[in-house]
Amino acid sequence: EKGGFDYFMLKEIAEQPRAVADTLLGRIDAEGRLVLDEMRLSDQDLRDVDKIIVVACGTSYHAGLIAKYAIEHWAAIPCEVELASEFRYRDPILTRDTLVVVISQSGETMDTLMAVRHARGQRSKVLAICNVNGSTIPRESDAVVYTHAGPEVAVASTKAFLTQLVACYLVGLYLAQVRGVKFGDEVKEILDQLEQMPGKVEEVLSTVEPVRELARSLAGERCVLFLGRHVGFPVALEGALKLKELAYMHAEGFAAGELKHGPIALIEQDLPVVVMVPSPTGQRVIHDKIVSNIQEIRARGAKTIVIAEEGDEDVRPYADTIIRIPAVPTLLQPLVSTVPLQVFACELASAKGHDVDQPRNLAKSVTVE
Ligand code: F6R
Repeated sequence: EKGGFDYFMLKEIAEQPRAVADTLLGRIDAEGRLVLDEMRLSDQDLRDVDKIIVVACGTSYHAGLIAKYAIEHWAAIPCEVELASEFRYRDPILTRDTLVVVISQSGETMDTLMAVRHARGQRSKVLAICNVNGSTIPRESDAVVYTHAGPEVAVASTKAFLTQLVACYLVGLYLAQVRGVKFGDEVKEILDQLEQMPGKVEEVLSTVEPVRELARSLAGERCVLFLGRHVGFPVALEGALKLKELAYMHAEGFAAGELKHGPIALIEQDLPVVVMVPSPTGQRVIHDKIVSNIQEIRARGAKTIVIAEEGDEDVRPYADTIIRIPAVPTLLQPLVSTVPLQVFACELASAKGHDVDQPRNLAKSVTVE
């Protein structure tokens, strides 16, 4: 049932091109317009939205953090992102014109479900992004965009995460379409790029062997740091989470711009630091800032592991190891840049002899608070 793989996690990582393709399937019509069947919210409701709050836990929360960049850029609606366990216990300002987007692979996470109930109790509209048909969260929400990752067995989320990103992009673009904020051409162009993503993810998978070697060589380390900017920041958080849960290692993700506000004090000789580099053809300024961050930490002795676009030579002088990813638009980069981090954590955990599919103390679906 593992289809020839040692672990379900490896099988699920390998299924990601198909999972991404299935989540896009049937959602872009011949004219290049988005159709979301189970949206169930009227165009008028969506035009009235004046604030979005994305609520989720764990890996799904990281998808939400990435959604914020996309939604604010494409749909120009203010967007906050919050952990479900925090959202519930404060007094969020919710109105009829607030759209609460909840993200849950399982559809059963108790804190996220409680957030749905709280938001609906305040008359806000709730849109669920979920991987399990007919589970509790989509049943209790006003609208749903299903991800089509197929069943995810490994406790650590991989293919569900990539499909959550796709769903978040679709929601952002759909809002832009309905509200007419972005000129049709930009939306069409991004939809075009999205349709090419299964092939790009496949490309990453075919070149991950060096990531495996690197992971095995770091199995004796006690700590790994991850740095990113813009959408690379949530990807850094996700890379660190995967390493914590699978390899039981201390791992932290930081916004690279925060380095000098504290974390740089952690840098010591030979500390492995993974850095997510945005495309040099996107916002040049964030690319260049990250290159100088790499230079700073290298100068303090860090072992720099750099995830950068093919052809980006600016990183070469400061990188101990370069992992290449295909060129894609900045907002979509998490779909390719997360994959080597998943493989890295999986391989490192297996080199340490851990049960990759069933990490200690964790459950696939957290139905207690
Ligand atoms: C980490 C992981 C968890 C889940 C979290 C939310 O790999 O899988 O952090 O993402 O428990 O679960 P769902 O998405 O089912 O609500």
